[in-house]
Amino acid sequence: MVDVHCHILPGLDDGPENLEFSLEMAESAIAEGITHVVATPHSNDEYHFDFERVREMRQQLQEKIGNRLTLATGCDFHLNPENLDALREDAARFCINQHDYLLVEFNEFAIPPAMDQALHEIQLLGLRPVITHPERNAILRTQEERLAKWVRLGCYVQVTAGSLTGVFGPGAQKNAWKWIADGLVHIVASDAHNMRGRPLKLRAAFDVVRGQFGEEKARALFIENPMAAFEGQELPHAPELPDERDTPRRKRFFFF
Ligand SMILES: [Fe+2]
Repeated sequence: MVDVHCHILPGLDDGPENLEFSLEMAESAIAEGITHVVATPHSNDEYHFDFERVREMRQQLQEKIGNRLTLATGCDFHLNPENLDALREDAARFCINQHDYLLVEFNEFAIPPAMDQALHEIQLLGLRPVITHPERNAILRTQEERLAKWVRLGCYVQVTAGSLTGVFGPGAQKNAWKWIADGLVHIVASDAHNMRGRPLKLRAAFDVVRGQFGEEKARALFIENPMAAFEGQELPHAPELPDERDTPRRKRFFFF
């Protein structure tokens, strides 16, 4: 499996405090059957994104773990004006493995219409925005049509593995499953922060997705699509979206 959203590097944000903890997370990833991890430190009002330090920490961790796990860097990119300015200056440092997929996180309390324009601007910079964990955003949970519109306009969606297993509560869980059923989800990632409440685990979520939607869908969300994002390639599995709201649902969904 390939994890494109993970806070595994030490001392950069609210992820692990030191290299020992990072190593524990890396070992946990290997034990899960994860082969590639993208370290995506926050860039937001609280944590400054320093690409040189990010690269240095990645290098240190890679040397410790050897070739049992492939590490790359990206950013948990909070969509705000300061970050957009930084993106215009030099986008690659924020992108997954310095190609063209960019994780985009929205504010939890307000997503004004200007954010739609910001997503478009990111695309005009030649990047492919990946909306991170919309199922954990209370605003987006109530704005499903807006999310679907972004996907129709070429954005991608990543849900958090823990949402599927109920770690983030029933609301996030319900939307994560529903949006997979509706074809709105392209990638599942761990968004791990530590070894306790936010571990670097994907296997349990892979298994339940495989149980509900089959092997092909699970491989698409956990392996093939994230690997393509890692390599800056077109995603091989882009779900077909209904064009209009009144299009009959392709599949009834009975999990809950
Ligand atoms: Fe994150």
